[in-house]
Amino acid sequence: MNRKVIILMVLGLVAVIVMVMASSSRPNHSTAYKMGNTSKQAGTIQPADDKSVVIQNYTFNPNPLKVKKGTTVTWTNTDTAKHNVEVDDGQPAGGPNGPLFGKNETYQFTFANAGIFKYHCSPHPYMHGSVEVTE
Ligand code: CO
Repeated sequence: MNRKVIILMVLGLVAVIVMVMASSSRPNHSTAYKMGNTSKQAGTIQPADDKSVVIQNYTFNPNPLKVKKGTTVTWTNTDTAKHNVEVDDGQPAGGPNGPLFGKNETYQFTFANAGIFKYHCSPHPYMHGSVEVTE
């Protein structure tokens, strides 16, 4: 092999490495997967992440919700009925005690204290939820 051929081979190898690196670091790989995953669940509203609770058919979901201390949790009401988030008696200090909110409205609460916070909906005391807050 002469020097020219070796240089061309090296350049070709570098080009292949650059292309592989560029394709593997492209950020839309994970985005595309997420979007595909979401569309698979069309029809039911799923929590966007572990900081969200959806109220649907008088049920809090997920329940229990596990978060780290300092997390802001968003409850989204998809029911026609108004609901709220009120901590049960006997729970640790620093639990939620929110107003009623209607369809497609949200309520947010930041958990500053660790502990297990059981809660309910005031007008519908049979609606139970729980947020487990860790340090
Ligand atoms: Co309710």
